[in-house]
Amino acid sequence: MEIIIQENAERAARMTAKLIADAVREKPTLVLGLATGGTMEKVYEFLAEFHAKDSLDFSRVVTFNLDEYVGLPAEDPRSYRYYMEEHLFRHVNIKPENTHLPDGTASDLKSECQRYEELIKSSGGVDLQLLGVGRSGHIGFNEPLSALRSRTRATTLSPVTIEQNQIYFGESAMPSRAITVGVGTILESRRCLMLALGKQKAAVVAKALEGPISSMISASALQLHPHCTVIVDEEAAADLKEKEYYRLIFKTEPDWEAYR
Ligand code: PGA
Repeated sequence: MEIIIQENAERAARMTAKLIADAVREKPTLVLGLATGGTMEKVYEFLAEFHAKDSLDFSRVVTFNLDEYVGLPAEDPRSYRYYMEEHLFRHVNIKPENTHLPDGTASDLKSECQRYEELIKSSGGVDLQLLGVGRSGHIGFNEPLSALRSRTRATTLSPVTIEQNQIYFGESAMPSRAITVGVGTILESRRCLMLALGKQKAAVVAKALEGPISSMISASALQLHPHCTVIVDEEAAADLKEKEYYRLIFKTEPDWEAYR
């Protein structure tokens, strides 16, 4: 695992977007796993900018989002499909048929989850998986107790996640369930790229990166991944014990030269 500490959220999001852009340039048919949430908004702004100013080409990119709320149709502004259209898809030249999210309105959730898993596989698997982390330790909506080998399935959101995401639903009750790809599914991606920002994430970032691997903190499973990069801002890095070592690696390793 590589841990990169950037001085602020802007720089952390820019570096994340730059790594994605480089992956798209290297493989124009990239299968890109996408995430939602406040953290990713700036990343998508940068990707839209790279498309507009530097002709970053999404025409052959295929995307798979991590999750979707059960019961929310695409046209609901609180659905993740809507979020993706708003923040990324309508700003770049991606083909609508190449963008995939689980269907939270499917009448048979089990077959929908199976369909989604199979679609990821038949597309060649995810090359680069973008990830946020929730205060519950989730990646996707893999809440505490999610098996480290779990697959795409419908899950119940934890109280911590409901508290975290209720702001997007105002006075109305938010969905209590979601479809999420599994921890096992995520670990099969060829590369993982996690971004965490702000002091509300400091505790969970330290547990996930420096704590034991545990199904109580799904993000800790990334320690098992052979090619995982985690980018954090100073606030999210606040509780990490080995910060100076991570900084030294970033300063020293030639692979990072273009990103320093
Ligand atoms: P956030 O959510 O970006 O809104 O903090 C991240 C997550 O819950 O995975």
